[in-house]
Amino acid sequence: MKLNIAVLAGDGIGPEIIDQAKKVVDAVCEKKGHEAIYTEALTGAAAIDAVGDPYPEETHKVCMDADAVLFGAIGHPKFDNDPTAKVRPEQGLLRMRKQLGLYANLRPVETFPSLLHKSPLRKDLVEGANFMCIRELTGGIYFGEKGRSEDGNMAFDNCVYTREEIERILKLGFEYAMKRNKKLTVVDKANVLETSRLWRQIAQEMAPNYPEVDTQYMFVDNAAMQLIQWPKNFDVMVTENMFGDILTDEASVITGSLGLLPSASIGLHTSVFEPIHGSYPQAAGKNIANPVATVLSAALMFEYAFELKEEAEIIRKAVAASLEQNFVTEDIDKEQAKKTSEVGDWLADYIRKNG
Ligand code: IPM
Ligand code: MN
Repeated sequence: MKLNIAVLAGDGIGPEIIDQAKKVVDAVCEKKGHEAIYTEALTGAAAIDAVGDPYPEETHKVCMDADAVLFGAIGHPKFDNDPTAKVRPEQGLLRMRKQLGLYANLRPVETFPSLLHKSPLRKDLVEGANFMCIRELTGGIYFGEKGRSEDGNMAFDNCVYTREEIERILKLGFEYAMKRNKKLTVVDKANVLETSRLWRQIAQEMAPNYPEVDTQYMFVDNAAMQLIQWPKNFDVMVTENMFGDILTDEASVITGSLGLLPSASIGLHTSVFEPIHGSYPQAAGKNIANPVATVLSAALMFEYAFELKEEAEIIRKAVAASLEQNFVTEDIDKEQAKKTSEVGDWLADYIRKNG
């Protein structure tokens, strides 16, 4: 099979971690008789520096023409510390999500037995935790009208959701729950927000269509607490854009490292696969960042974009083996830390030998 992959490495550690994912994809392709064809395109601060736009039209075209997008990270401190900057790298990511219609962001949270000791939570609480966070990605406060008063001393960000936007993401939530352990937690703030009340109303309308699913409703503040108290109680969680952004960062540390969590963004056009961590500028160019989240994002790409489940499993097995053998970057083991590129080479090698 020919795999047409758009590669948007982006900023910071993006290019280094993407290189490792490509090594792994190539090894799997070699093993299984596929051919990966990569088309690189600019995004983020790198694109602003080059052409003044964090998601140039040319990049969008490359994404639209591809079967899948492998995305690194975007963001640069020179923009973070300048609240007056008009053009920001993050706008590139948000425009890409909007223009590709990526309304659902899937963030699976899974614990690795060999890393349980790295979790900030007690082993008995996290052992076996395995849930799917589904974050709405193209609506809510991220995309509502925003602005400032004339004197600059008042600012607003509107949170807007339509029935159609809510229904399509909840549908995905119910469907995932059906495929998994039939438990869906709808997270909102319906005691305060009107958008949340509409979410809850629509979820209650839809729930009878999925009688086998145990549907629960949880306020986001309570969910933040429950996630670290009883992570094993979750199966599928579905929530709006900003709640999902915050809760998935929280959920990610349960596994022991933010450097491990992949994500898939799916919707109307080409799907995008990216690690949930950011561009980690302090580590850029040092060959120390953990490439595993990006490698696991490539596994999600095989599974969702190409429906090649076996290939995805080959990658996951290699990652599990590297963790078991402690062939890891410094975020996991400071004393015996391996380099980013060494981990990539190890994984590709493992796949060639064992996959
Ligand atoms: C994420 C990131 C982005 C978001 C930023 C970089 C705009 O934090 O993908 O979770 O907030 O969605
Ligand atoms: Mn985030």
